[in-house]
Amino acid sequence: MSGIRVLIVGSGGREHALAIGLGNSPSVDEIHTCPGNAGTSEIGTNHDVSSNDIEAILKLAKELAIDLVVVGPEAPLVSGLSDLLRENGIPSFGPHSEGAELEGSKLHAKRIMEELGIPTGGVQVLTDESNIDSALARYPPPWVIKRDVLAAGKGVVVTQNIDEAKEFILESISTDKFVLLEEFLHGEEASMLVIMDESGFICLPASQDHKRVGDGDTGPNTGGMGAYAPAPVVSEVVKQRVIESIVNPMHHYLRNQIIPYRGVLYVGLMIDDDGYPNVVEYNVRFGDPETQVTIPLIKSDLGLMLLAASEGRLDQIEPRFSNKSAVTVVLASEGYPGASNIGREIKGESIRIEDVDITAYVHQAGTLRGDEGALLSNGGRVLSSTGIANDLPTAVKAAYDVMNEIQLEGSHYRTDIAYRAL
Ligand code: AMP
Ligand code: GLY
Repeated sequence: MSGIRVLIVGSGGREHALAIGLGNSPSVDEIHTCPGNAGTSEIGTNHDVSSNDIEAILKLAKELAIDLVVVGPEAPLVSGLSDLLRENGIPSFGPHSEGAELEGSKLHAKRIMEELGIPTGGVQVLTDESNIDSALARYPPPWVIKRDVLAAGKGVVVTQNIDEAKEFILESISTDKFVLLEEFLHGEEASMLVIMDESGFICLPASQDHKRVGDGDTGPNTGGMGAYAPAPVVSEVVKQRVIESIVNPMHHYLRNQIIPYRGVLYVGLMIDDDGYPNVVEYNVRFGDPETQVTIPLIKSDLGLMLLAASEGRLDQIEPRFSNKSAVTVVLASEGYPGASNIGREIKGESIRIEDVDITAYVHQAGTLRGDEGALLSNGGRVLSSTGIANDLPTAVKAAYDVMNEIQLEGSHYRTDIAYRAL
């Protein structure tokens, strides 16, 4: 059999990490990305097709005789990209549109968790008929308010301030007709990425993201400012609890749907002080930046694993994982997570550390090559430096050694990634 021809959909650091992982897979022959970034263009071919144009992606996949499409972001999954590809006989890694509703609608996800008895916080649905004061009084602060729309991480407010809570509730009801008020979950967050299809599932090493923009978890929420894996908060005991109370019932439910779930289920966890997990959220895709620290820890052939999941035969795969630790530190543009200044020149991105036991390099995200060949910033999260080593402190140091070489005017990054585990 000739090698797999892969098309990756998306343009972030996650997609660069997938491209590197697939590029290291002996089974993979060719890598294409749409639209990709300057990093993915060094591994394969970028195509100027938007990740939201699902008809154009189908056309591209046919033209290139693609064997496997790997979908990065959630929006095209919710719009039915996998449905369309499968109807046309092209294996797609990522759930069909109904499965993608687990991320597309937080209320839908809550209802399924309730039905299956999966541990998660309580929720109230508020409309213009609701008594907002009594709803707020039912949960102690901080209050968690979520719009039930795909808002790229911007639809959630967590606040102790009752006026701010009310204002966001009223605003959201006026645009969306309803809003969710969730019970605040205490503990430490972790992300578990679970590759699954109807034949089985594989839990990847658990990771921890850093959602706040500033050191010490201060400032506004972002898409993620850094991550590390494995996250010690998910000990073997905790992992078994996650599998028993969350992954098993969810997998049982998803495998028995008319169209089974094929892709990765991102389980956003809150581990309480006694080591019991609750679900904060589900996503139907790889996390960003969690992917940058998870993929390097997979030792088995990533191409074969993702193709098997997209064809419903994941039970044929025996995964192997590395014992190393991985850390990634995100470099963001001036202004991020608000309006970001882009189009500035980046220097130092090709630096790489390659020692016997230490590897460190850059995952590109919001980058593009200018006409004169210079690398330019092209998004809020520009790139991340990733370190991989036998222990976490060494991996942290390697990631920051690389980050210190990068130059981008006005940019910022957190200096405390992985602090909870150090
Ligand atoms: P989400 O978009 O649902 O991932 O929420 C964004 C972030 O808000 C999460 O990663 C948490 O840090 C925080 N968050 C969301 N829901 C809760 C909750 N119920 N309790 C505590 N923190 C939460
Ligand atoms: N890093 C959080 C996410 O990918 O949703």
